[in-house]
Amino acid sequence: MTIAAPDHATVARVIRARRSVRHYRPDPVPAELLEELTALALEAPSSFNLQARSLVVVREEEGRQALTRATGGQPHPQEAPVVLVFVAESAAWREDRGDVWLTARDRGAWTERFAASSPDDVRLFHEDLARRGLEREYAVKDAMISASFLMVAAQAAGLATSPMNGWDEGEVKKAIGADGREDLHIALLVPLGYPAETRVHPGRRSRELTCFSEVYGR
Ligand SMILES: Cc1cc2nc3c(=O)[nH]c(=O)nc-3n(C[C@H](O)[C@H](O)[C@H](O)COP(=O)(O)O)c2cc1C
Repeated sequence: MTIAAPDHATVARVIRARRSVRHYRPDPVPAELLEELTALALEAPSSFNLQARSLVVVREEEGRQALTRATGGQPHPQEAPVVLVFVAESAAWREDRGDVWLTARDRGAWTERFAASSPDDVRLFHEDLARRGLEREYAVKDAMISASFLMVAAQAAGLATSPMNGWDEGEVKKAIGADGREDLHIALLVPLGYPAETRVHPGRRSRELTCFSEVYGR
């Protein structure tokens, strides 16, 4: 299929080439590149632009060892020179996010009126979420989409990643200095580095089973 938009072929190739890589070369990720990749991760959209997520870049041996233990000894956090920990911040809406509203207003992205009403809109929306026990889930959405941006950007830069769900949350929080913080939740670990293996695409279920038209299941 031919799509005329100039960037399409590149983005499609990058997305299709990405694999979850479990073994890494020890070569370090250049600091400037790491800086750019984390900046791209933080370009991801977030609910209300509240940015209820952050990421912790773990490079030191001690931190990576602690994360390796938290994953039950899986090889990727041990071998990869960098492990990114995506943190969901479920109390972000309770904090002063005046910087967000003012930045959007000053850039001309939001009207004065929209920016002014945002704190109340955000509070009402999240009070309802809190009543339904969904604060964590909503912050995790912000964190996961940020991790997705990171993985695609890393692939485009010739690096490999692997999303990881297999870890003990308490141990990961300890490793990143967030022990005891009830408002912080681990969304995903993403080892990052140069691949030491080539992985075969494991395939995806057929579109008839996974992409529907108008009505679920059809
Ligand atoms: C949310 C999530 C959690 C995952 N957790 C792990 C993990 O703990 N360990 C692991 O080796 N792979 C993990 N994976 C990688 C999957 O096994 C992998 O994405 C899947 O097999 C498809 O392969 P691909 O990413 O190469 O397309 C995880 C993937 C996702 C999306």
